[in-house]
Amino acid sequence: MKKELKDIFSEDLFEGDMRFLEPMRKHTSLKIGGPADVLAMPQNLLSLINMCGVLQRNRIPLFPLGGGTNILVRDGGIEGAAISLKSFRRIEILNRDSQYVYLHVEAGTLLQRLVNYAKENGYGGIEGLAGIPGTTGGAICGNAGAFGCEMKDVLVSVEMLDSEGKIKRFNAEEMTFGYRSSGILPDQFILNTDIKLRIHEREEVSAKVENFLNIKRQKQPVWEPSAGCVFKNPSGVSAGKLIDEAGCKGMRIGDMEVSAIHANFFINKGEARASDFITLMNEVIHKVQQRFGVILEPEIKIVGREIVN
Ligand code: EPU
Repeated sequence: MKKELKDIFSEDLFEGDMRFLEPMRKHTSLKIGGPADVLAMPQNLLSLINMCGVLQRNRIPLFPLGGGTNILVRDGGIEGAAISLKSFRRIEILNRDSQYVYLHVEAGTLLQRLVNYAKENGYGGIEGLAGIPGTTGGAICGNAGAFGCEMKDVLVSVEMLDSEGKIKRFNAEEMTFGYRSSGILPDQFILNTDIKLRIHEREEVSAKVENFLNIKRQKQPVWEPSAGCVFKNPSGVSAGKLIDEAGCKGMRIGDMEVSAIHANFFINKGEARASDFITLMNEVIHKVQQRFGVILEPEIKIVGREIVN
């Protein structure tokens, strides 16, 4: 596979960083994941489009990688090309009036860079997203949220590239956002977004951001390797509370452990493997189902291939 792919991608078609058999554990917040056949970080849109064309002609699967913060990559790694848009990270003011500012944000912009930019300029609407890791594109794809604030709340439009290389802009109303979902297909790339924020006093926005960050630091193990909340909250109840009350805090498989701080976070204590994570997930699902009759559903995306022995 390695040689074939190296031959397929000629350098004149591609500007950016391209790595073969790149361990995904170096690119995920969980620090777990086998090798991607290719990990590509195109430097510009033309390189991305060229690469998608090459992949499609050669029937090689592609996987849009955001910040790697809400995914579990299996131990067999990713088949085909994982593509990161981390070079796409511009924030620009499109327009402003007395009440609102309209920003154009490229998909690879770290969500926390955007939250800080808004905080420094007194732009309100995304304070609740403070402390959520990952990219803006990833936050749109998973409709990231906390403290009653969701990414979709500020979106005006999203520009996407499909696997055939066609670029299309969608207004937010045309998209089907739900709780931690956006309806965006697995092979669609979010390229950029236009968002609308409200103009406030800088101190007001800053105080809200700091308050949410403090709550997070108290209630969530934000300093340890995790993928954020593992399961979605079932209607009207916290999955963390159910897992906690089912007695799962501190449960451990290999180096994977249910956090003692917030039970919906699984922590990699060292050299955990994806298989440890999945076994732990299944045990937690089983215990919660036995205790409460509720079947928890993963919030994180599980991708990649199993190890074939
Ligand atoms: N609780 C426990 N034990 C635990 C965890 C929570 O008893 O181990 C209790 C808390 O004491 C509280 C209640 O459960 O009474 C709710 O907990 P919390 O405020 O932490 O909220 P959550 O519903 O567990 C959700 C989101 C988080 C988001 C917070 C804050 C989901 C799955 N989780 O957690 O999002 O940060 O609210 O708004 O929607 C994420 O999506 O990755 C994530 C972390």
